[in-house]
Amino acid sequence: MKIPPRLEPLLEYGLIDEVITQLMSGKEAQVYVVRCGDTLRAAKVYKESTKRSFKQAVQYQEGRNVRNSRRARAMSKKTRYGQKEAEEAWLSAEVDALYQLARAGVRVPTPHGFVEGVLLMDLITDADGDVAPRLGEVELEPELARKYHAMVIRDVVRMLCAGLIHGDLSEFNVLLDEQGPVIIDLPQAVNAAGNNSARSMLERDVDNMARYFGQFAPELINTRYGKEIWDLYSNGDLHPDSSLSGEFTDAETPANVRDVMNVIDDALRQEFLRLERLKAAREEN
Ligand SMILES: Nc1ncnc2c1ncn2[C@@H]1O[C@H](COP(=O)(O)OP(=O)(O)OP(=O)(O)O)[C@@H](O)[C@H]1O
Ligand SMILES: [Mg+2]
Repeated sequence: MKIPPRLEPLLEYGLIDEVITQLMSGKEAQVYVVRCGDTLRAAKVYKESTKRSFKQAVQYQEGRNVRNSRRARAMSKKTRYGQKEAEEAWLSAEVDALYQLARAGVRVPTPHGFVEGVLLMDLITDADGDVAPRLGEVELEPELARKYHAMVIRDVVRMLCAGLIHGDLSEFNVLLDEQGPVIIDLPQAVNAAGNNSARSMLERDVDNMARYFGQFAPELINTRYGKEIWDLYSNGDLHPDSSLSGEFTDAETPANVRDVMNVIDDALRQEFLRLERLKAAREEN
């Protein structure tokens, strides 16, 4: 195919040898299948910042560590230089997250560098070597749905133990290779410790997975892994292999049946006395 201009520098540097095809364009990026020597890889080219409103929302960026303090100072000012620094920090967030998560044992595409705004990573393929489908494109037997759901939940736990929350986890951002689910699309990854929306984003991610896999294994729909995982995490008790039940009792003191019965008894007694008084008053007249 004709070389997309954004990939030309990578060909010049010898990082890629050929551009094979373009995958379905996402909202925020274009992904190409490229050949590097004799392996195929995925090259993700981010769209201009003006076309990436959603994932760049401040909600996702709160609490991100900007490693370079000169950059952090520049970003806090609204100068053109500050904006350029903010853009570079945003662009490198996905490759940083991929390296971090690959180290933590999460099933993500292995990254192979970030050059001129292009992320190079393993191409995820299916059993036939074709580009892997997204979860949202497959039908699953209940047993496989339960197995894949458990694998994704385990990866969510590993991610959180590494300090990150996906923030946009859905059946469109999980691919299926021969072994199971592979999580992709992480530029918006949220710093779990420093972000005030961390808890709700984790719950949303986990609930999305319960809803998706629940189509094939309905008992998953009412599981409460998100709340359970967050509770362990916020008490400092979450580990990559923490055992989970999917059940969670809200922290409010559980309703005490005897207390409730006493309240009802009391209301009945009051009502009885009121009727007695009414009757007595009528008899007096
Ligand atoms: N490593 C990979 N291997 C195979 N296919 C990939 C890979 N990375 C991305 N894709 C394909 O490219 C599509 C777009 O990638 P991705 O989700 O990262 O980009 P995006 O533009 O941010 O997406 P979105 O529309 O969710 O915002 C994916 O849905 C997937 O089908
Ligand atoms: Mg996506």
